[in-house]
Amino acid sequence: TSLYGVIGDPVRHSKSPVMLNRAFREAGVNGVYVAWHIRQESLGDFVAGVRAMGIRGVNVTIPHKLNIMRHLDRIDDGALAIGAVNTIVNEEGALTGYNTDGIGYVRSLKEEAEPELEGKRIVVLGAGGAARGIVYALSGEGPDSLVIVNRTAEKAEELADLFRSRADVRAAGIDRLRELCGEADIVINTTSIGMYPNVEEVPLDAGWLKEGAVASDLIYNPLKTRFLREAEERGCRIHGGLGMFVYQGAYAFEYWTGLPAPIEAMREAVLQTME
Ligand code: ATR
Repeated sequence: TSLYGVIGDPVRHSKSPVMLNRAFREAGVNGVYVAWHIRQESLGDFVAGVRAMGIRGVNVTIPHKLNIMRHLDRIDDGALAIGAVNTIVNEEGALTGYNTDGIGYVRSLKEEAEPELEGKRIVVLGAGGAARGIVYALSGEGPDSLVIVNRTAEKAEELADLFRSRADVRAAGIDRLRELCGEADIVINTTSIGMYPNVEEVPLDAGWLKEGAVASDLIYNPLKTRFLREAEERGCRIHGGLGMFVYQGAYAFEYWTGLPAPIEAMREAVLQTME
């Protein structure tokens, strides 16, 4: 049996164990996935334990995505560019860090809402950790433009500078959000506004979107935020945050096992925990 798990602080609300154990069962992988509550000061000891016990794979969540990097042997280019690791692969004692959040998001966006990202005008609201991975991954898909809008303008500027070599990535003031949404093919909320229990707060007005646009929200509790509900009522395609979670885990599963991830079973396992 191979051992896998997720580390975080806190970690008890993580849905990764349910999702990955279901994936192992579905795919016939002889693996067990657990959650470990690891504090900042124990991160080095934890990694020593991974090496000692031959733990095959680890997911890394808040607040360790940055600090874990110094303990690994190799960091994948994408994770390096984003500056955060959420997945560790242990190959015979050599630990490599990856970031599957952004690519997981893009894969779910393509599967669930918009298969063709090339030439699209994309607006990203927010410039935090989640936005970084997403802007990185989207900038590799050949969009016409990627505009980052954030309450704190400097953070949007910094993020745009980081990936400007990969695509037409720009920052814009929040006062231009309405106008930009009116021209966008895809509008993505990466902020936590609208998350349970503050479900009625809206960063964006779905009424600003043009017909046929895609509205996307990283929040998955609630599964359909007010922004998405109102966008749907306007006839827009909508894309919720559950897919990002499922596909970031799917990439981890695929890196660890070399097998295609049983996506629908994984999605179902997560949904069952939310009933
Ligand atoms: P995450 O890793 O989930 O992205 P984060 O790094 O703390 O979390 O980033 C949170 C993002 O949501 C930021 O873009 C933040 O805007 P600021 O950079 O201006 O702080 C945005 N955000 C959070 N609460 C917000 C609010 N009430 N109004 C507007 N933006 C908000």
